[in-house]
Amino acid sequence: MKINGVSYRSVWVDPNDHRTVCIFDQTRLPFSLDILHLTECAQVAHAITSMQVRGAPLIGAVAAYGLALALMKDASDEAMERDAAMLASTRPTAINLRWAIERMLKYLRPVSPQKRVEAAYKEAARICDEDVACNEAIGRHGLELIRKLAAERTSDRPINILTHCNAGWIATVDWGTALAPIYMAHDEGLPVHVWVDETRPRNQGAGLTAWELGSHGVPHTVIVDNAGGHLMQHGKVDIVIVGTDRVTTRGDVANKIGTYLKALAAHDNEVPFWVALPSTTIDWQVEDGLHDIPIEERSATEVTMLTGQTASGAMETIRITPPASPAANPAFDVTPARLVTGLITERGRCKATAEGLLSLFPERQA
Ligand code: MRU
Repeated sequence: MKINGVSYRSVWVDPNDHRTVCIFDQTRLPFSLDILHLTECAQVAHAITSMQVRGAPLIGAVAAYGLALALMKDASDEAMERDAAMLASTRPTAINLRWAIERMLKYLRPVSPQKRVEAAYKEAARICDEDVACNEAIGRHGLELIRKLAAERTSDRPINILTHCNAGWIATVDWGTALAPIYMAHDEGLPVHVWVDETRPRNQGAGLTAWELGSHGVPHTVIVDNAGGHLMQHGKVDIVIVGTDRVTTRGDVANKIGTYLKALAAHDNEVPFWVALPSTTIDWQVEDGLHDIPIEERSATEVTMLTGQTASGAMETIRITPPASPAANPAFDVTPARLVTGLITERGRCKATAEGLLSLFPERQA
């Protein structure tokens, strides 16, 4: 995507030394666009756990480069397995992380230690390129839904799309998942407007999605997380499109906390609820999302404290709860397949069912 006329991906290798891995520090957005230069595996692990990089496809891609950096220090079998396990454990819910690490190991195990570094950078680059291609295809398949809504319009009001968290280009290598169709619709002149859930407690909607859409000129409005149901009751949402961190074989969807409540409200108001994902987000080993997807519990301070920019431009963190009140912070929830209108993948759209998924991915048939 372009920022101020310059094209970026969310992760890239420094063209000057071909080894340093570059990312944007997403904890600094939307206030400043800082590039981090990662030269060690431990820095990659820290970037993922601290959410300097986040978003299911992106953490997989960055972890793949993390393994390449680890191999520069020690490319032995033992070290590679140890560092891969450490990277895979940095966040538990998004399956793309485990998928990327497993793919790297499968590719690297037969390679001799002397040739592993080169091979690892090449495989990580392939993971990135494939993610971009997948998301572009998701964009095209999702665009068809928005075109259909545009054709059915009876007034000149825009097509109102609600999204939760951030499933844009900064959450992937490029394009995004849920936002890819929106970018394409906007680019071809369809009148879209996005309701952006702020997405407490880390505010990925207010901070990242709003920044992305604004940088691309897409009309949008930030709303508090509890506003979506009200807007749907009053006919102000035509479609919900969200991303996901893991989809099960029967179509259950893990995504940022609060997604389930949006799906319930959409169901009650007959608003289509679509989930956009690359196939790397499907966990082919899990059927029951409610019981078998690990839900990340993050620090209570993400709930009790708020960080933002003061009028002078300085960053400030303030407490918003009584110091003695405990807080809980489950970071994801699971939306049962029955509440999902459909899935948008790189191979097309399908129902959120086992049959639907297998119709697009027949090679997964047992
Ligand atoms: O905790 P985060 O910010 O990594 O959570 C991100 C989400 O829940 C996204 O919606 C999901 O990863 C899809 S990203 C294309």
